[in-house]
Amino acid sequence: MFDFKYYAPTKVILGRNTEEKVAELIREFGGTKVLIHYGGGSVVRSGLLQRVTETLDAAGIAYVTLGGAVPNPRLSLVYEGIELCKREGVDFLLGVGGGSAIDSAKAIGYGVANDGDVWDFYDYKRKAAGCLPLGVILTIAATGSEMSDSSVITKEDGLIKRGYSSDYGRPRFAILDPELTMTLPDYQTACGCTDIMMHTMERYFTQGGNMEITDALAEGLLRTVMRNALILRDDPGNYDARAEVMWAGSLSHNGLTGCGNDGGDWMTHKLEHELGGLYDVAHGAGLAAVWGSWARYVYKDCLPRFKKFAVNVMGVSKEGTDEEIAERGIVAMEEFFRSIKMPTNLRELGVDPTEEELAEMAHKCAVGVGGAKGSAKLLDEAAMLQIYRASV
Ligand code: NZQ
Ligand code: ZN
Repeated sequence: MFDFKYYAPTKVILGRNTEEKVAELIREFGGTKVLIHYGGGSVVRSGLLQRVTETLDAAGIAYVTLGGAVPNPRLSLVYEGIELCKREGVDFLLGVGGGSAIDSAKAIGYGVANDGDVWDFYDYKRKAAGCLPLGVILTIAATGSEMSDSSVITKEDGLIKRGYSSDYGRPRFAILDPELTMTLPDYQTACGCTDIMMHTMERYFTQGGNMEITDALAEGLLRTVMRNALILRDDPGNYDARAEVMWAGSLSHNGLTGCGNDGGDWMTHKLEHELGGLYDVAHGAGLAAVWGSWARYVYKDCLPRFKKFAVNVMGVSKEGTDEEIAERGIVAMEEFFRSIKMPTNLRELGVDPTEEELAEMAHKCAVGVGGAKGSAKLLDEAAMLQIYRASV
């Protein structure tokens, strides 16, 4: 096992009606003037925003609101949020919604707490020295942003989607009420389950040494999410399945399933981020669409892990060579994606890139990772292009 740092400072409150505790939690973490940041309107339609503002009113906590964080959240709204916070003297951020609203709130927090252009952090030019404190009420189990150190923002100019990671951005608290996710369209529930699985799979397919405890956690998480994703496909109102998936989402991306390995592969995510930037696809669906092509490109260089995954997670037979077992695991994973109506190639994702666009994505991806990246197998720009081509 490699040395590791595990830092997960977020206070998690999971259960029915836990959003009623939002005012006392903001107080606990020192907030006196709050920016409530949300997405395109689902929290307005569900009545959640109104319940939150009523709770803050009753507690005498001042707030301003800013909606409009779209999936693949945009830099222009982040700038708007930074100005609003400075103008209004905001000292605490409350992200209400999914990864997009939370990530946008984190970016606003970096922009308020640091001078200069906030995009510098996403452009790897410098590191943040702080972030406004942030709390979260989650409405979709997916990104794990409610506990993660990451924030992913898209710059409109050039459609560049980039992530920035810093412990300063980890939320102070996360309110997880599984019932809030019951208004999700089935497609978003499936996208979320895919993303959750992928956060653990990125950490699983590495060249890291012995990771018995971490592997057991990872494999258990993956099996649990798959089982409950199928329950939710057939019974979207199942509370326990919603709760299992929601907690898995937080654990999958708070670092736990990466302890002791070499930090993760992350190339499926990097390849997807270019798709999200260029075609504005849902993140989970984009991941499913490229994963199979990525896996077939790399698995022979990471055979013990792919074999272990095939047997312990996908439950395939142990007959045949290691390569045959690993291949069966990849096929089984793709069958699972199809069973929850996730795409397994770009056509099924609904995009039809030209050769020039494939080359553009490979180039931007290579630039974004600083040339080459990947633990299962190191991928350069030419390899990225091959994977994109294979996923058409
Ligand atoms: O915007 P609203 O109106 O709220 O609608 C959203 C949006 O259309 C809707 N939705 C959310 N909760 C709902 C709901 N609709 C009905 N009922 C509810 N309870 O679902 C749609 C998707 O929401 P979004 O926040 O975009 O989804 P998600 O949580 O998947 O976030 C995706 C973004 O997070 C980034 C992705 O790249 C993408 O930009 N990621 C962030 C990470 C992180 N911060 O750690 C890690 C991830 O790997 C990922 O890259
Ligand atoms: Zn993700």
